[in-house]
Amino acid sequence: MDSPAIDLRDPAFVGNPYPFYARMRAEAPAYWLPHGNGGMWMFTRYADVELILKDLRFKKDTSRFVQPGEQNFPQMLNTDPPDHTRLRSLVSKAFTPKVVEGMGPHIQGIVSYLLERAKAKGELELMADFAMPLPVIVIAELMGVPMEDREQFREWSTYFALGNDALATPEARERAGLGIQSLVGYFQHLLAQRRQEPRDDLISGLIAAHDEGGKLSAEELIGTCILLLIAGHETTVNLIGNGTHALLCHPEELERLRRNPGLLESAVEELLRYDAPVQRSTFRYAGEEAEVAGQVIQPGQQVSAVIGSANRDPEAFPDPDRLDLGRTPNRHQSFGRGIHFCLGAPLARLEAQLALKGLLEAFPELEFAAEAPAWRPATMFRGLERFPVAFA
Ligand code: HEM
Repeated sequence: MDSPAIDLRDPAFVGNPYPFYARMRAEAPAYWLPHGNGGMWMFTRYADVELILKDLRFKKDTSRFVQPGEQNFPQMLNTDPPDHTRLRSLVSKAFTPKVVEGMGPHIQGIVSYLLERAKAKGELELMADFAMPLPVIVIAELMGVPMEDREQFREWSTYFALGNDALATPEARERAGLGIQSLVGYFQHLLAQRRQEPRDDLISGLIAAHDEGGKLSAEELIGTCILLLIAGHETTVNLIGNGTHALLCHPEELERLRRNPGLLESAVEELLRYDAPVQRSTFRYAGEEAEVAGQVIQPGQQVSAVIGSANRDPEAFPDPDRLDLGRTPNRHQSFGRGIHFCLGAPLARLEAQLALKGLLEAFPELEFAAEAPAWRPATMFRGLERFPVAFA
């Protein structure tokens, strides 16, 4: 299991991982990344990524890795069928394309409010002022999480997401533990409150499924709340941030979109492909011996599908490093594949479409500010820490 001389801890990886992926696809399509107490096989070619995401020999159930004394909070993304099927069906009704479509005017209202606020202030830090609040407000409202707690759970969620990454420092790992503990405590409290005073929101619906139907356990209830909150935080935020960044790096494509607003849907798909917010799949391990890209994977070994690389594989996309907002077909894998395909995809798409449309209409002169944007160090969630923009 020798790692080839492609170093993902090279600081250049954080700014631009794509040349690293190109080498991995060519030289080491099964790449061993040691981390923490073990390591994982990373697969970078389009076909292998699709296989890992779809093949149920690769398991997600984390319960067997829980250390004595540690708690486990099952949810759909860390379980296999039949638990996965049950847990997913309990919330899927809240995310159907039809339900999400009905949220359009409300999301539009939030977009306008945030942009007006930035205009009045005369400056825009794209992440803190726009990309971050929009998805967080939407998911918090949908779930029924009080808005005034926003700053607090945003911090815990980010600790958790970054601290569990293969590039995380020991301090970041420690903060991740703190983040998850805080989120558990927070939801325990909120769930108790909502049980006393049910409302018309997702959390109250989940409590009823637990209390009345026995359809999910107390741990699953907390696990599901945490999953939805984090999924709503660390992903759509980065689609808006990375998408705007890609547009500003390609002024001719930005101009093309401004002149042709009918391109909006296809533009969002291309931005998803070009700089995927979730660069690699979440935890999976081989349930049995399996061979992928010529590599035998032993039962119990971790695997990861590098979505960000699959999306740039020349075997799947002509001229893959070119941003082409009209690209068709565009079978990117940014929302995953198979039974764990992103439940929030319709919501994420709508939010990003309305956000970009609003941003371009509000600021016809949008451009990079003098201060360069800064990327967060991570292999899973690719996003910007800070992104000041200028709008003349
Ligand atoms: C699953 C990406 C937004 C909820 C996934 C997966 C990906 C993904 C790649 C599969 C992970 C794997 O198989 O390892 C994204 C991206 C988003 C986004 C790129 C934004 C641009 C959202 C939103 C929600 C959401 C807004 C809503 C709360 C979920 C859930 C799953 C999931 C619940 C687990 C599905 C299952 O296990 O059956 N997402 N996501 N996502 N996503 Fe998203």
